Amino acid sequence: SIEQRIDSVMKLMTLEEKVGQMNQYSGVWEHTGPITEENNLLGQIREGKVGSMLNINGVAHTRELQELAMKTRLKIPLLFGQDVIHGYRTTFPIPLGEAASWDMTAIELSARVAATEAAAAGIHWTFAPMVDIARDPRWGRVMEGAGEDPYLGSLIAAARVKGFQGKGLGNLDAVMACAKHFAAYGAAVGGRDYNSVDMSDRMLWEVYLPPFKAAAEAGAATFMNSFNDLNGIPASASKMLQRDILKGKWKFQGFIVSDWGSIGEMIPHGFVKDNYEAAWKASLAGSDMDMESRSYINNLPRLVKEGKVPLSVVNDAVRRILRKKFELGLFEDPFRYSNAEREKQNMNDPAHTAAARDMAKKSIVLLKNEGGLLPLKKDTRTIAVIGPIGQSVRENLGFWSIEFPDSNYIVSQWQGIQNKLGSSARLLYARGCGIEDTSRAGFAEAVATAQQADVVIMSIGEKRDMSGEAKSRSNIHLPGVQEELVKAIQGTGKPVVVLINAGRPLVFNWTAEHVPAILYTWWLGSEAGNAIADVLFGDYNPSAKLPISFPRTEGQIPIYYSHFNTGRPALNDSDRFYRSAYTDLSIYPQYEFGYGLSYTSFSYSALKLSSNKMKSTGKITVNCTITNSGKLAGEEVVQLYIRDKVAQPVRPVKELKDFKKILLQPGESKVVQFVIDKEKLSFYNEKLQWITQPGQFDLMIGSSSNDIRLKDIFELIP
Ligand code: IFM
Repeated sequence: SIEQRIDSVMKLMTLEEKVGQMNQYSGVWEHTGPITEENNLLGQIREGKVGSMLNINGVAHTRELQELAMKTRLKIPLLFGQDVIHGYRTTFPIPLGEAASWDMTAIELSARVAATEAAAAGIHWTFAPMVDIARDPRWGRVMEGAGEDPYLGSLIAAARVKGFQGKGLGNLDAVMACAKHFAAYGAAVGGRDYNSVDMSDRMLWEVYLPPFKAAAEAGAATFMNSFNDLNGIPASASKMLQRDILKGKWKFQGFIVSDWGSIGEMIPHGFVKDNYEAAWKASLAGSDMDMESRSYINNLPRLVKEGKVPLSVVNDAVRRILRKKFELGLFEDPFRYSNAEREKQNMNDPAHTAAARDMAKKSIVLLKNEGGLLPLKKDTRTIAVIGPIGQSVRENLGFWSIEFPDSNYIVSQWQGIQNKLGSSARLLYARGCGIEDTSRAGFAEAVATAQQADVVIMSIGEKRDMSGEAKSRSNIHLPGVQEELVKAIQGTGKPVVVLINAGRPLVFNWTAEHVPAILYTWWLGSEAGNAIADVLFGDYNPSAKLPISFPRTEGQIPIYYSHFNTGRPALNDSDRFYRSAYTDLSIYPQYEFGYGLSYTSFSYSALKLSSNKMKSTGKITVNCTITNSGKLAGEEVVQLYIRDKVAQPVRPVKELKDFKKILLQPGESKVVQFVIDKEKLSFYNEKLQWITQPGQFDLMIGSSSNDIRLKDIFELIP
């Protein structure tokens, strides 16, 4: 068995070789090799002091280093890790965009394609999915997760893990998933990256941990801890998170890698005085592999010899790491991921491109469509594309597009529209301004261009590196003078469609109020142009729903739908007098969680519960009928929320508990069924016990968290 084989290797290992397995280096700061001789990395690999490398990709480079590992005394293969976050060569939408699809099959396929390409390029391990709940769009890494909700976030976490790991480690198209960042990184105070997190245990367990639990249950091979401290304890030294919860309660058999340098960063945190203490605390707490801080390699052997860290701690970590190397089949053949022919075949496979286009169109959220301006007619004579992103290729890719596709494989929005309409259409272009420009010098030309057109498509938003790691921003309004450009173009009186490309919810009040049609297009990846054209011209009817609330302005942050009611809830925006409200600002978001329009309309009817009373051992079946009342086929995400009306501790005003995404032809009706059981009504009490309390619950079914169409009440009886 694998366990016996691990024993047989471990018996031969010296303490130094064991600690070597717990050590990970990056090849170079940027994304790929060849590796430099800096810090004698090659020498350290040769001496068996390195268990894994990150940022080495491509068959040639990974093979080169694996050959070095094969020269070590015990020939233990290296693991190659990489941030394959939304596609490898074929770039998919950013994870937050994909989350808007609420489509687990498509999300799983996206991770599957990424894994297939990465594995063909010599990579064994992706540092994804990021499953951090994020409720603060100032935080740059909001782009990398699934948004604000633990239920949706958990489903997506599991789908991504399954996609990356495919039929299981050992298959040549599978890479190890890594659920990160454990834990609560998304709740950094003020949305400032790497900042502290101060959070109640109940909030941690109910909101921030569920996606991690889902990832562990889906079989995630690895976890990454995080940069932040949680209530004063840096996550890398948190025994509570790593040993008690993950390896203890959840029985996780994989290994935990630190974040980049996070073990050493416990020094500036003020938690330890040097790398010796850092290695001591982190290893005892259960961090198995040290990414780049060199604390383990330089200190762990001594800590063991001095009796400060029991050898069993090192043995346990090494077992976990070796187990994955065995499961990947690397002991049989360390070069099994290094096949140049397979690498060539897999990159830019047309099936991957098709999946990227499908995922991209499913990620586009229709925020506004006054007067049915969209979809545009394919025989529109003259179309003006205006704005800094319309002809760009790179801005579509978004942060964490590690391995740039050949630019021939990135479809700009301009190109996508041209592909759709062929030579019959007259397409005009004016940039108007740069993304961050403060000058209006290009406005006149843009206005003149718009004046010649029958319809204007404006493409604006963020640069691809304005959201992402270390990209927190206090001002999340549309950057530069872009909204001024929108005003100028809207002033021409031409019908205007605005595409907003960004890695986070942005603030764009004027546009939201005045422009007739808005599509939120995130950063959609290599097929952005084609996918956007599919939606603009009605070949795909938008079906996405926001996975995160969009604030009206930064002052509302954090804003999320599943808040408590408080003792003085405001009933509406006029109800401010000594209420939980702002005197100068609405309490409602610009666009709420679960919001997104379609080119068709859906009516909800015939809500029927199998009973209005439920025993805690029982179930209630909920049926309702959804009808496509418009003229086009379309998909609707039917969302089920509940509210536990009286509970101790108090419960949120709404909690998403289920949803179904259904396709309906015009005039067609479908019965949608949900089942409510005890699990859906359970929550953590102050003692962190998972309980239910008898009493009344509101049941709400709707098209968004704010657009509730059907309501009933049921009672949980003892
Ligand atoms: O995987 C990432 C992590 O999310 C942030 N810091 C660097 C790691 C490796 O690139």
